[in-house]
Amino acid sequence: MKKFSVVGAGTMGHGIAELAAIAGYDVWVNDVNDDILLNARNKIAWSLSKLRKEEALERIHFTTNQEEALKDADFMVEAVVEDLKVKSQVFSKASKLVSENAVLASNTSSIPISEIAKAVDKQERVVGMHFFNPPPLMPLVEIVKGEKTSEETVKVVGEVARKMGKETILVNKDIPGFLVTRIMFRINEVGCWLVDNKVADVKDVDYTAIQVLQFPMGVFLLQDYVGLDVSYLIQKALIERGFELYYCRAFEEKYNSKEFGMKSGKGFYTYDGKIIRPTLENARMVDPSLLVSSAINESYKLIRLGIVSREDVNKGCKLGLSWPKSPEDYLKEFGLSPVIRDLKMLYENTGLPHFIPDESLTRSYS
Ligand SMILES: NC(=O)c1ccc[n+]([C@@H]2O[C@H](COP(=O)([O-])OP(=O)(O)OC[C@H]3O[C@@H](n4cnc5c(N)ncnc54)[C@H](O)[C@@H]3O)[C@@H](O)[C@H]2O)c1
Repeated sequence: MKKFSVVGAGTMGHGIAELAAIAGYDVWVNDVNDDILLNARNKIAWSLSKLRKEEALERIHFTTNQEEALKDADFMVEAVVEDLKVKSQVFSKASKLVSENAVLASNTSSIPISEIAKAVDKQERVVGMHFFNPPPLMPLVEIVKGEKTSEETVKVVGEVARKMGKETILVNKDIPGFLVTRIMFRINEVGCWLVDNKVADVKDVDYTAIQVLQFPMGVFLLQDYVGLDVSYLIQKALIERGFELYYCRAFEEKYNSKEFGMKSGKGFYTYDGKIIRPTLENARMVDPSLLVSSAINESYKLIRLGIVSREDVNKGCKLGLSWPKSPEDYLKEFGLSPVIRDLKMLYENTGLPHFIPDESLTRSYS
């Protein structure tokens, strides 16, 4: 395997290209205009110099010509905007240009792989290869099997991810949000519910996430970092595909008022050009078991359904979300009774059935 193509050179694409070059592949990066490519090149050069791997830059070719980038490629990672139509166009073109046994991977955070795969002839070679932001630093790749993805494709993508220095987890079924995004939205929904119902405010939720659960960022602070336009669109995409979720109206409000978080200077917090941690003075603690209860429930359900292994759930939360503990560890810490009580309370107040404690929760807990 030699030629590695990355389509889309934005936040994720340029980092993926950098990793591929460090791994020794001949990398072709494509985007829609030269300015974006130049910006990507500069960022890669800066990052490679920090890592003292400057020589890898020679292995990266930048082109606005998609045919040139994809022709005879052995491996493609698509990292264009989170839009099925745009992704389908890229896959359709790639399908006609890449080498016979090439793997076609998407870095999508929420669109089912099987929907993207419909654009190509050989759907068995389409797979999800979900990197985390920023790709050079985040240690995980979430591999997602579409309905028709072959075992061989899963094997190849695992080998490539490991060659890029990443740990991998496997999501066996093409569910909306896969594992890591789903778990993140399970935390978001409880945070939003607490705020909507005036049980707590944004600061209290974030204080509890950081100080008690020891997450690297608060629930709302993380979404300011991700971008509230992105959070809103992912939430929308998940719900449209049948993911049951307490709807976070605050994301929609921020989206409509163009308060996108750090990148626009204002989101749940205000930023003055620098990425700084907002002060959480005078914040009150909310019940930490309540905040994490829906994520625990989701993870136990996915394990019971055979969609993700127990080991991969733990790895996904620790390496993809940088949690210090797994959902299982939090369950042990807070105890089964409080978590079941919290879930029942959420169910009674919202009527949403996904809050009903999963049957495996009681069974698996020893
Ligand atoms: N940003 C994150 O934290 C993050 C994390 C994991 C996965 N993702 C996923 O990665 C993908 C890319 O996200 P991003 O944050 O890098 O977005 P981005 O907007 O920073 O970059 C997307 C790039 O794709 C380019 N593009 C659009 N249409 C194109 C086309 N037809 N051909 C070539 N290039 C095209 C755009 O010009 C842009 O430079 C999305 O699917 C997103 O869900 C994002």
